[in-house]
Amino acid sequence: PETGSLSIVVLGASGDLAKKKTFPALFNLYRQGFLSADEVCIFGYARTVISDDELRDRLSGYLVREKDASSEELEVVAKFLHLIKYVSGPYDSEDGFRQLDKEILKHESLKTGAEGLSRRLFYLALPPSVYPSVCKMIKTCCMNKSDGGWTRVVVEKPFGKDLESAEQLSTQIGALFEEPQIYRIDHYLGKELVQNMLVLRFANRLFLPLWNRDNIASVQIVFREDFGTEGRGGYFDQYGIIRDIIQNHLLQVFCLIAMEKPVSLKADHIRDEKVKVLQSVVPIKDEEVVLGQYDGYRNDPTVPNNSNTPTFASVILRIDNERWEGVPFIVKAGKALNSRKAEIRIQFKDVPGDIFKCQKQGRNEFVIRLQPEEAMYMKLTVKQPGLDMSTVQSELDLSYRQRYQGVKIPEAYERLILDTIRGDQQHFVRRDELKASWEIFTPLLHRIDNGEFKPFSYQAGSRGPAEADKLLEKAGYVQTPDYVWSPPSLE
Ligand code: BG6
Repeated sequence: PETGSLSIVVLGASGDLAKKKTFPALFNLYRQGFLSADEVCIFGYARTVISDDELRDRLSGYLVREKDASSEELEVVAKFLHLIKYVSGPYDSEDGFRQLDKEILKHESLKTGAEGLSRRLFYLALPPSVYPSVCKMIKTCCMNKSDGGWTRVVVEKPFGKDLESAEQLSTQIGALFEEPQIYRIDHYLGKELVQNMLVLRFANRLFLPLWNRDNIASVQIVFREDFGTEGRGGYFDQYGIIRDIIQNHLLQVFCLIAMEKPVSLKADHIRDEKVKVLQSVVPIKDEEVVLGQYDGYRNDPTVPNNSNTPTFASVILRIDNERWEGVPFIVKAGKALNSRKAEIRIQFKDVPGDIFKCQKQGRNEFVIRLQPEEAMYMKLTVKQPGLDMSTVQSELDLSYRQRYQGVKIPEAYERLILDTIRGDQQHFVRRDELKASWEIFTPLLHRIDNGEFKPFSYQAGSRGPAEADKLLEKAGYVQTPDYVWSPPSLE
């Protein structure tokens, strides 16, 4: 592994994303020994004028709950906080960034001497409107100084609002940094069961012959949250559920399910296949879309009274290629629903010439539960144990909590940030991939923005609009009556 000074700069250090995700992820990496105090300095940068200690105080509550923490843990927290320095300044003027560069240089010469390796990671925990100016400032004032060192920038969605604005943003950033320096985070790509998709599909002989239109009847990719847009109404209303969840998180999952086998695990080989499958998606049809907005959404003072923004959407994607023609991929996401979970449901076709037809319980279904309770289970029809020759729906169950007891599944941000330090872009979104994903949704989004496509209202805490269930039925999905999966208990 590389050694040498490592400067991690969190821009927007006092914002929500930084406090809730970036710093806690850095802390977890530190705690597990991935960030060595001999090399690392973490810089917070934001406009607010505060001291190092004030920033540390603001962050500490997000790292551990003080009242539950042991004294050893508190000591680790204190050591971690000690690695953090704060620099304040604007996002669009050179003064602040020159000061930042000075501080970084100080750290670099302290750790490795002025000639040592300089590695600089800039994490933009900021709204995209300032990405171009911040990138410009980094490029002008803060690039790494040593040969063999590097400068990388990490950016987070929303990458634009539609194809045109996303491309504009990509062009602005692309004029300053090369693609291998840009890490576009989609945190769903850091989830354990999302990362498992490639292994599952391509390391198991079992699935190879089944994974196609001959056997699979439909695929669902579902995201549900049991809370609304609390506190984020202002942001959310400008984007809506398709831009917030579907165009990025669920579409990434879609790629991993539908893409062809990459030539190798090299980042570009994987992303080449993702781009291809995205480009094979045919234009979305109006009759294959159901939008919803929960009652009460507009009561949020930051949401306009006449908002047309969907908080729920179910969209059928169709792929025009040899493997998938005719198979509906139903991507569905909603806020303020009756449960919180994210899962993939692959439903297989009926058995031809089925001699158990009269008692058949339901179709085979392979379910990958991304969260909570990570699991994979395959619904099967088996003989009901006992004297009668009757059938029952059961499952082969790989529940992670039971099978991998004592294993802590890392947070998505944790492993993605580690990848940025290691220079592995496998789980990051490439520019052409981003473009292809916006191409799929932009026409629909424009129609929604123009008020030409209206959401149905649904009750908060419900399953979402009933029309979405009808769409599912129309797509050929067969419900299994009375079957409920319950994760195995640990006893
Ligand atoms: C974010 C969205 O990207 O993902 C949020 O902006 C959403 O609206 C969140 O709540 C969900 O992430 P997770 O990891 O909790 O499923």
